[in-house]
Amino acid sequence: MIWTLKKRMYRIQQRTMKTVSGVIPFPVPMLLSGAGSVENLAENIKVRCLKNVLVVTDKVLMDLKLPESLLESLHEHGIKYTIFDDVQPNPTIENVEKGRTLYQKNKCDSIIGFGGGSAMDCAKIIGARVSNPLIPVRWMKGLFRVILPIPPFFCVPTTAGTGSETTVAAVITDPSTHEKFAINDLKLIPKIAVLDPELMVGLPPHITSTTGMDALTHAVEAYIGLNGSKFTDENAKNATRLIFENLEKAYKTGSDLDARTNMALASFYAGSAFTRAYVGYVHAIAHNMGGLYGVPHGLANAVILPYILEFCRKEAENKLADLAVAGGIGTRKETDEDLSVKFIEKIKSMNKNMKIPTYIKELQEKDIPLIAKRALDEAHPDYPVPRIMTLDECEVLVAKLLP
Ligand SMILES: NC(=O)c1ccc[n+]([C@@H]2O[C@H](COP(=O)([O-])OP(=O)(O)OC[C@H]3O[C@@H](n4cnc5c(N)ncnc54)[C@H](O)[C@@H]3O)[C@@H](O)[C@H]2O)c1
Ligand SMILES: [Fe+2]
Repeated sequence: MIWTLKKRMYRIQQRTMKTVSGVIPFPVPMLLSGAGSVENLAENIKVRCLKNVLVVTDKVLMDLKLPESLLESLHEHGIKYTIFDDVQPNPTIENVEKGRTLYQKNKCDSIIGFGGGSAMDCAKIIGARVSNPLIPVRWMKGLFRVILPIPPFFCVPTTAGTGSETTVAAVITDPSTHEKFAINDLKLIPKIAVLDPELMVGLPPHITSTTGMDALTHAVEAYIGLNGSKFTDENAKNATRLIFENLEKAYKTGSDLDARTNMALASFYAGSAFTRAYVGYVHAIAHNMGGLYGVPHGLANAVILPYILEFCRKEAENKLADLAVAGGIGTRKETDEDLSVKFIEKIKSMNKNMKIPTYIKELQEKDIPLIAKRALDEAHPDYPVPRIMTLDECEVLVAKLLP
């Protein structure tokens, strides 16, 4: 009885959020896209009269010299820059604070997030802390807690996965509790997003596959959730089609520029969908795998996605059928039941073809109750999932991920 009431309360809160997200104006970043487009960012920064930018990235990308063409064009346009490259995968509060100190010490006036979701998210929250020095990172957790606007902010994704270049979200880890949490605010959407496929040709196959499956998870969770709109549905379907057509190509042939371009677009579309329509239990559980064990976000999502879809297949049957048709793996002549099963099988086969396991190797049985509790604390009431899970059901599901 109490559970039935609780579920009803969740649904009421989710409907309220749907109404709110339908009326609030989501800023849309200006897009610079195509091979070599990263070189056009500097002139677009210069016209905004900005002179001193903090470039937030990581050491792997610096070693690969990936930011070089951006840095050269900043220099050519007379824009000073400071590099902060201490971002680690699953960025932490410490990473943010170190970047903020550097921004202030060098009197920067703007920020570029250059890298995967980790660099872009860390850059977002460095900006949030620069403008809101009295609000600790932890207090920003949740919705609309970044009070003052962040400095002018630009994103250059080098993975095709998170969609952070168009989302309201930044995901940060608190190492003291091993908790990963999302900060969501319209002020975190960048002014410009650069989708340059040339930056992605050297992305190793295992990162191509897992980040691509993160984008697919965004599209699927946004589409099967209850808070979708015409806009988010179209974006989610386009993203699904592009990912089905291009992810395995990009995985096999990293230098395939067409596949890289399409994956960058897919990631952007999927980001545009989930930032308005939310994610679901796949993300809620994946965040905890990241927080507790440092499992890469995309990998955790890729592994968990088929299990969650099996859990809610019946409730989401017609939507999974839509996605199967949009993804080109079935036709309307088939029943929704068959199409939905086909859709889940397709995800399993993509995982298998790209050597993604069916389990999380770091997962320990003793942690299952904590993971399940934290995942449901994150998901309820915000995530408008098609089938609401009890704690017991969540524990049973997480146990299936044991190695
Ligand atoms: N803000 C959002 O909306 C959002 C959405 C989903 C996930 N996330 C968060 O984003 C983070 C994950 O981001 P990610 O999956 O992009 O991975 P990442 O940024 O952690 O990068 C993974 C690894 O790939 C390397 N790398 C990145 N680009 C490369 C390139 N072009 N060539 C070679 N190596 C490259 C990085 O140096 C890093 O070692 C997680 O913290 C996740 O929670 C954020
Ligand atoms: Fe994600």
